[in-house]
This record gives sequence, C-alpha cells and structure tokens, in this order.
Amino acid sequence: KKSNNLEKILIIGNGGRENALAWAIQKNEQIKNIYLIPGNAGSEKINKCERIFLEIDDKKELIKKLNFLSIDLVVIGPEIPLANGLGDFLRKNDFRVFGPNKDGAKLEYSKSWAKEFMEAAKIPTSKFWKVNSLNEAKEVINSNNGLLVVKADGLASGKGVFIPDSKDECLQATKSIFDGKFGNAEQGVVLEEKIHGPEVSVFALCDGEKYILLPTAQDHKRLNENDEGPNTGGMGAYSPAPLITKDLISRITKEIIKPTISELKTKNIEYRGVIYFGLMITESGPKVIEYNCRFGDPECQTIMPFMDKDFVILLQKCAMGSLTGDEKINPSNKVSGCVVATSKGYPNTYKTGYPIEIGEIDSEDCQVFDSGTRFSKNGEVLTDGGRVLSIVCQDEDFDKVFEKAYRNINKINFKDIYYRNDIGRQVRTKFSMDN
Ligand code: AMP
Ligand code: GLY
Repeated sequence: KKSNNLEKILIIGNGGRENALAWAIQKNEQIKNIYLIPGNAGSEKINKCERIFLEIDDKKELIKKLNFLSIDLVVIGPEIPLANGLGDFLRKNDFRVFGPNKDGAKLEYSKSWAKEFMEAAKIPTSKFWKVNSLNEAKEVINSNNGLLVVKADGLASGKGVFIPDSKDECLQATKSIFDGKFGNAEQGVVLEEKIHGPEVSVFALCDGEKYILLPTAQDHKRLNENDEGPNTGGMGAYSPAPLITKDLISRITKEIIKPTISELKTKNIEYRGVIYFGLMITESGPKVIEYNCRFGDPECQTIMPFMDKDFVILLQKCAMGSLTGDEKINPSNKVSGCVVATSKGYPNTYKTGYPIEIGEIDSEDCQVFDSGTRFSKNGEVLTDGGRVLSIVCQDEDFDKVFEKAYRNINKINFKDIYYRNDIGRQVRTKFSMDN
C-alpha cells in the first residue's frame, strides 16, 4: 500500500529550514503539490506549495488528511515530532517517511544515550559523566582539573548547554537543570570535558544501510559578532566549509560516519533520514559534539541552493531504503552563505507582530526564506519569531556571497531587526565590519 509515486509531498514544520526544503523539492517536474503543516507566511510564495492547518497531535485527522491528499512522501523537519514518534506512527499507517523513528531520534533527544552510543562504537568525542544529583555533579566537577561543559539531558532547543567560566558557574548551571529550568526536573545532566577548535556541520542522508553526504557547512551559533554572547539556534552559515579538506572528510568518514551507521545497525535501528554530525575539529582530530536527527537551521537554507531536481528523489530513496550510496550531488562551482535576521532580544525574550518590508531583492542566486513570520488579519506579513528571515546568496567566492547577502539584507526592514555583520568572516578576504 505504500506509495512509490512522487507527486505529492508533505513537509512538517514551520521554519526557514522547511521552506528551503520545499523550494528545493519543487524543482522536480514530477512534483505536483507540496503541503506544509503548518508552514509560515512565506510558504505559499514557493511554487506548488500550500499550507495545511491541522494539529499533528490529532493523529486521526492527520491520517485522514494524508489519505485524502494521497501523500507519497512525508518529510519531517523538526526534532520534536521525531522524538515523539511521528515517524513510527506514519510508517505504521503505510506512509513513506523521511525522518527517523523514535529510536533513531534518540541520538538527538538523549545526550547521555548518544554519548554511550559513541563510547560503544569508539567514535571520537569529549569525555563525559552522566550525573543524577547535585552531589554526584559536585564530585565530578571538583575532581576535574579543567572546566566542564554542562548539558541538560534532553531536548532544550539549543538552550540546555552551558559553557561555564568557573567551577562555581558550573555548579550553578547544574543546579538550574536539576531545579527543572528546562521543563523536566527528573531530567539528568551530562557533564563534558571542554574541547576546542572550529565547528562544522556534516549531513548524511541515510536509508538505514547506505548514505550519501551533502556539502558541509559552518554555522554561527553565538548571538553576537566575534562569536560572543549566548548560544542561539544559528545566526548564519556558509557552505562548503573550506576547513574540511578531502583528507579530513575521509578521516571523518572513517572515524565517525561509518561507525555511526554501523552502530545504528548493531542496535537494530533502521535510520531513514538525515544524520547531522555537529563536529569540532580539535588538535587531535575531529570529534562529535552532538548528533541531530534533522537538518540544521540555517545550514539547510544555505545548502539547498546547491541541490538540483534530483534532491527529492534522494529523500524518497532514503524513505524507501533504496539508496545505492553512489548517487552524486552535482558539484557546484559556487559557494553559498546565509545571514539570519532576528528579533532583538532573541534567544531570550523579544516582541513579535511587526510589519516586514522587503525591497527589490536580487533576482539571481539570492533567496529570502521566511523563518518566523505570519500574516495579520489583513494579509500583511508580520514578524513571528526569534529568527525571522534567512537571506541566502550564492556566488563564485565568499567575498561576493556576503557582499550580496548584506546588500540585500539592507533592503529588509522591520522594527527590532538584529543580525550579525560578521557572518563568514573566517572565509572572507575582504572582511570589514561595515557591510
Ligand atoms: P550542543 O547543543 O551540544 O551542540 O552544544 C552547543 C554548543 O556548545 C556547541 O555548538 C559548542 O559550541 C558548545 N559545546 C558543546 N559541547 C562542548 C564541549 N564538550 N566542549 C566545548 N564546547 C562545547
Ligand atoms: N544550526 C544548528 C541547529 O540547527 O541545531
């Protein structure tokens, strides 16, 4: 009963990532309709796209709707529905799904499980201690010479990680997690050795057996210029990451990617979706900082412009378990960069509901994906989130990419707009802070 057609796609999610996926998927002429649950104010600007308003937790309605629409492939964007088992549920109801089942999503939703997984497969990562009480934490913190990173052991939208500057801060952070600051006071804490080096995101599309790699990307997690301020979901990105040489990618493949996929198989986890490897390139080699069970946002917006019309076929092959592993992503002779325009105050408190004005955007190799937007009653586009718009450009080098991105972001205006002026500074030769 599972569909082998490829005409009607459903994407779950409401961010810039999901709009970028839709935009890449519509390039294939086989595709007739793309539905987004719920999408945002930018979704229906994309060719073939239509929004559906339905609670995905209303399982009966969801299945009814998907059957009515004859959906051939469901792409699940965010981690929360994956961690809640939406993939399992849809598969049980005979739909093709891109996105792992709950067992695979555990790589992201349980940091301690992911650490034990890496330990079992001898995958390079920082040392860790799982602690269940403040006293246990104290013992570990006091017996370590170096400072430890503190992580809430569960989903926390990127906010459950502390990089303390003193042992006291380390204890305070641990206490705040045990006090239930991240929802669940039962939740454990993972303490990690602090490691150093540049970070890079690697994405493997996986069908349970085989995989193919997408272009690498570098995110900018910190809120402010020079990588200062709190961690965010991501303020900008570029792709590919020149830091990842051919030799380095072979090493990453051998030490990290292949062992991850074979450990999943050892654990009888049929992983059909994307594995996001958050890596740190340390002096002693690449190490895994974290796994995610979904595309990164804004890395996805940055990479999607490289994808041709066959991208959706790769997603379908992952969902069907029919990758050969020899599929090639057409190499691009361009590079890509993304700057995220946010609401001032993000990632803490911020106001929304401000009208967005967008001037004449370059028509070639420049995309504006809505991240957090909604319509007002009379159809005006308003800000509706911490991250509001993702401005993505491609060109032959990163100087040109970011010149274009900042030239276009200057044509965008809404109250409280904030963005970093130094995205891509690592790869720009003509970098100056006044774009
Ligand atoms: P995570 O949510 O686990 O990716 O952590 C968020 C950010 O915290 C990462 O992107 C790193 O910049 C930083 N981080 C996490 N773990 C470590 C670690 N063990 N050592 C140093 N920095 C870390
Ligand atoms: N940009 C990082 C993330 O999506 O987690």
